[in-house]
Amino acid sequence: MLNVALPKGRLGEKVYGMFEKAGYECPSVLENSRKLIFENEEKGVRYFWVKPSDVAIYVERGAADIGVAGKDILLEYKPDVYELLDLKTGVCRMAVAAPKTFRDDPTKTLKVATKFSAIAADYYAKQGRDIDIIHLNGSIEIAPILHLSDVIVDIVETGKTLKENDLEVIDTVVPISARLIANKSAYKFNASTIEEITRKIRELI
Ligand code: PRP
Repeated sequence: MLNVALPKGRLGEKVYGMFEKAGYECPSVLENSRKLIFENEEKGVRYFWVKPSDVAIYVERGAADIGVAGKDILLEYKPDVYELLDLKTGVCRMAVAAPKTFRDDPTKTLKVATKFSAIAADYYAKQGRDIDIIHLNGSIEIAPILHLSDVIVDIVETGKTLKENDLEVIDTVVPISARLIANKSAYKFNASTIEEITRKIRELI
């Protein structure tokens, strides 16, 4: 049985559709239930829904053989996994944004609110910019409005959240999309199965 961790939510359903088209269907996955684990014995696959930011943990520790995680999570937590394929879905970008009135003063420490502290730290370290990171868990856009921070580093997809909160993008940090990842030892022991799935999904992209 190949264990596959899928990110719960809209992206996960889209990604499951890719596995289905690749010939690894498990129709019960899309049943509207509270169940989290589904298997198709005949196809030798077991899917489970986990919080998107937890997929890499399941895969790194071998609870899942493969999974789908956003590049944002891979850059932030640097899990020790193989990144097999860019699924070209869940496309967005990590960006620096600020209120339209913001003017940077390089002589002052920049206050940066973010859920992605490591990505933000790397980005500003490369610029030699002195920053103070304020780690938040969500609704990051509020931080500069309430003067908790000067700027934010966050995910921008449609740009709607920024627009509705009078913020604008100052710079793109890195483009983001969903990636197929594998546990390192599972890849060694199930190379043919994992490579076949990767190849079939690649053909669909
Ligand atoms: C994400 C991100 C932005 C928003 C961007 O938030 O943190 O807030 O989506 O999308 P948009 O550009 O299409 O408006 P999410 O919904 O994951 O919630 P969060 O506040 O918990 O981060």
